[in-house]
Amino acid sequence: MSPTPPETAAAPVHGRSSQGARTTAEQWLPGLDGLGYGGDYNPEQWPEEVWERDVELMREAGVNLVSIGIFSWAKLEPREGELDFAWLDRLIDLLHGAGIRVDLGTPTASPPAWFFRTYPQARVVTRDGLPLDFGSRGMASPSSPDYRRLSRRIASELAQRYGQHPAIALWHVHNEYGAPVSECYSPASAAAFRAWLRDRYGALDALNAAWGTAFWGQTYGEWDHVDVPRATPSVVNPAQVLDFRRFTSDSLLECFVAERDAIREHSALPVTTNFMAAACPSVDLWRWAREVDVVSNDHYLTAADPRSHVGLAMAADLTRSVARGKPWILMEHSTSGVNWQPRNVAKRPGEMRRNALSHLGRGADSIMFFQWRASRSGAEKFHSAMLPHAGTSSRIWREVTALGAELASLGEIRGSRVRTEAAIVWDWESHWAQDQPWRPSEDVSHRERTEACYDRLWRDGVTTDFVHPEGDLSGYRLVVVPASYLLTATAGANLTRFVADGGTLVVSFFSGAVDEHDAVHPGGFAAPLRDVLGVGVEEYLPLRADESVAVELGAALGGGTVRADVWAEHLVIDDAEVVATYTDGPAAGMAAVTHKHHGAGSAWYVSTRLDVAALAPVMHAAYAQAGIERSALPDDVEVVRRRGDGVDHVVVLNHTQDAHDVAVAGTDLASGRTADVHAVPGEGALVLRVSR
Ligand code: GLA
Repeated sequence: MSPTPPETAAAPVHGRSSQGARTTAEQWLPGLDGLGYGGDYNPEQWPEEVWERDVELMREAGVNLVSIGIFSWAKLEPREGELDFAWLDRLIDLLHGAGIRVDLGTPTASPPAWFFRTYPQARVVTRDGLPLDFGSRGMASPSSPDYRRLSRRIASELAQRYGQHPAIALWHVHNEYGAPVSECYSPASAAAFRAWLRDRYGALDALNAAWGTAFWGQTYGEWDHVDVPRATPSVVNPAQVLDFRRFTSDSLLECFVAERDAIREHSALPVTTNFMAAACPSVDLWRWAREVDVVSNDHYLTAADPRSHVGLAMAADLTRSVARGKPWILMEHSTSGVNWQPRNVAKRPGEMRRNALSHLGRGADSIMFFQWRASRSGAEKFHSAMLPHAGTSSRIWREVTALGAELASLGEIRGSRVRTEAAIVWDWESHWAQDQPWRPSEDVSHRERTEACYDRLWRDGVTTDFVHPEGDLSGYRLVVVPASYLLTATAGANLTRFVADGGTLVVSFFSGAVDEHDAVHPGGFAAPLRDVLGVGVEEYLPLRADESVAVELGAALGGGTVRADVWAEHLVIDDAEVVATYTDGPAAGMAAVTHKHHGAGSAWYVSTRLDVAALAPVMHAAYAQAGIERSALPDDVEVVRRRGDGVDHVVVLNHTQDAHDVAVAGTDLASGRTADVHAVPGEGALVLRVSR
């Protein structure tokens, strides 16, 4: 089966409409034939003599795309209204002369000192009422009218001047919306939040009902009394917090859309903004991705995780999913260590290449870094770069130039797609709702379950999309719901239809507890899934810290006993088959895992936390039903496939230190060798061309 790319959720957009937005998502970057390669370039940190040398070295490294201007507001507009483009003219012409395409940033992630002096009320205010001052970076309040006016103006000025420049391939609005701060509690934000709520609910009665304000006597009689969720004596109304997070994502998106539209008045070039899929919890990328022409993403390894390549793969798969399967840009990653983690572990020789090829294999058509030349001053001087402090006589430089040459030879991959048969449900709103206090157990994490399910699929060699629970599931054989706390009735119906139509569903505990207002569903926990699962959840039975329970697997799961922790449930069996049973703990003798045939498909329910190894029997049974083949490769050998016209490209990544043979018939593009079996060296990688 070759699934169509999933549609993103059709969740209503309040206070703003994506209708009428021009979509140029099909277009690739003008002037760039093959894969893009390069990074953030911050030449304002260097004397102009260095620029010439930079460009020379960029050519040596195979760089064909650089992102500039991202933090240049102070240099472009040294005083309010006084614009200086002369240096940028020279820079862009220099790059153009060398055939290097430009991803031109709008500098609105870092307003200048004068902005904060002139408009102190535009500062972001924290929940504790502290205004955040200048001296670092980070945008002003997204709801500040002055910030909005001046950021739109600088974007417009840039577009007027460079919108037709032949060097420009792409517009890069802002930088990582949602970081370093996202929520703002300023008076402007409070007023904007009230306006957003009026738009969403219309009448105050509807807001009172949605927020359940009858609880703890919180009923509002006047709109003016409604506020952002400030510091309060006890737990804040969780529905209010959830709406504030929705509002925050929307208000940041309004900032992006305003800049994008200002650019579009003068330029037909594609517009992006660099996402942090899987890392930034504060923006809902299902909605954001509809507003960009090309999806781009930043990703940094978690150095403390020895298997951080799995987190990388997950971020790349999520990025591809929000891009609806279309090619995307890896806008930033690092050549070696970063500077902002507790221990900034350097990448091992070959690791950068494997990272880059993993993103490529998962759909990225440009591989970019932060940053081109390492900064001598400032907060990021210990961050690695393409051109490190050690200069060109360095391991990093040699690997950077080798990667540039390799990517230049892989241009034929551009535009091909990754096809998947499995998807994991992902909804930012569910994370926002669950990650609040006073839940049944602080040990339950939506994120942990998502990562565990992803890791299981990754180890089994099953490439996975992410999908919104209300999105189009028809292209998948298997859908996994990982502790998806918030599931609307619509989502429940969608998942039920997926199974009825022949899909296989695996649902973990603590899914579907609440609706879109963080209210328990009428009918109780998991009510929207009761029909498809054939079980009801009578009571949650969280375990003590360090407590575990034994789960006896039935014949359908291959028998044996596994241990589970964190959570158990008292299930009520309607018409499901019990395939595993608790043999001790608070649910001793009760069903732990169930299975039900429903329509043409089937649904599994796992009511406790199984680790990645213990998930195998359930997931393997689900693959068998779904007709999904799992790979027999050794652990930590990763294989991903992109499908082009009549030809596939298979990327093989060996994250172990030992060589392994991989049975994929094709041609190794580096050596030109055609064979049925290829040896991939320890910590090495291969890209194979495979005929179909
Ligand atoms: C983010 C930012 C960059 C830089 C890198 C460092 O991704 O966008 O400007 O700070 O982090 O890792």
